[in-house]
Amino acid sequence: MSERLMRLRATRHLRDLCAETEFTRAQLIQPLFVAEGVGEDEAVPGLRGVYRQGIESMVRQVEHDLAAGVTQFLLFVSPGEKRQSGFEHQFAQTAIGALRRQFGSDFCLWIDTCLCSSTSHGHCAVLREEDRRIDLEATLGELARAAVAFAEAGADGISPSDMMDGRVARIRQGLDSAGFDLVPIMSYSTKFASAMYGPFRVAADSAPQFGDRRHYQIDVRHRSDALAASRRCAAEGADLLMVKPGLTSLDLIAPIREATGHPVGAYQVSGEYAGLVLLDEAGLTSFETALLETWHVFKRAGARYIITYGARLARQLGIGGGR
Ligand code: PBG
Ligand code: ZN
Repeated sequence: MSERLMRLRATRHLRDLCAETEFTRAQLIQPLFVAEGVGEDEAVPGLRGVYRQGIESMVRQVEHDLAAGVTQFLLFVSPGEKRQSGFEHQFAQTAIGALRRQFGSDFCLWIDTCLCSSTSHGHCAVLREEDRRIDLEATLGELARAAVAFAEAGADGISPSDMMDGRVARIRQGLDSAGFDLVPIMSYSTKFASAMYGPFRVAADSAPQFGDRRHYQIDVRHRSDALAASRRCAAEGADLLMVKPGLTSLDLIAPIREATGHPVGAYQVSGEYAGLVLLDEAGLTSFETALLETWHVFKRAGARYIITYGARLARQLGIGGGR
């Protein structure tokens, strides 16, 4: 027997020596949920260690997270009052401003930019009253207005997750004309309609009240649509691209990167993360070991960054800080 592949697997030192994927905590993004009118932290079903929080509690959370070596955050804002259009961003601005005031430039704050946490019907768009069809013009206007409001309040970056045609171009234009030409866009560029978003919709209070999102999110069978969506985001001015859900989109990461030259990240969505938690609770796996395994696989597939509910556990899991 000539080839002994097992020889380099034999000890931890040899395995570590030969590891082809490495990453640091600087490449992990921690989602946060801030909700208006929440008193005590509310646990999110399936998302161990993640809460819906009021502003003060969220600020304390970020203080802990910074101490644990997290530097990247993606904030989801859930305003108390839902509407059909004419959304207000006061609560979001207060939340963003509170973090910015408290922590200055110690961290990077991305804001999820969508309408589903603000609309009474839970869809990611403004709907026409007559027939409930998407009013694209009104939706794009609202998205751009939201992005500018978030940037004004001190967001570092804008992260549109709505999947409306033309949103990145409109947001870019809105930011630029308000003087925020250096604020980057991290687009949910290849985002599928998925059954993996369940825990999130509880946390963000954003479940559609009728129908589903299949008329605006990508069909998992449509590879060319998946690639075209990211290519178009890049062409419209997105700086960072993303696949979502992460594990079910692994095959697309390298092709998107090759087609655009842009950094592509993976969003390990709520259902993927909760799946590991539930396996652990059933005594069928070790959550921490399984979580780390998925992160390595995202990196192996070519993800530049990973959005994961477990970013705040990374140091504990032995992931270094870099530099
Ligand atoms: C809403 C949004 C969703 C997620 C991020 N932004 C849910 C959806 O599209 O229904 C999912 C994130 C997760 O499940 O962790 N625009
Ligand atoms: Zn949405």
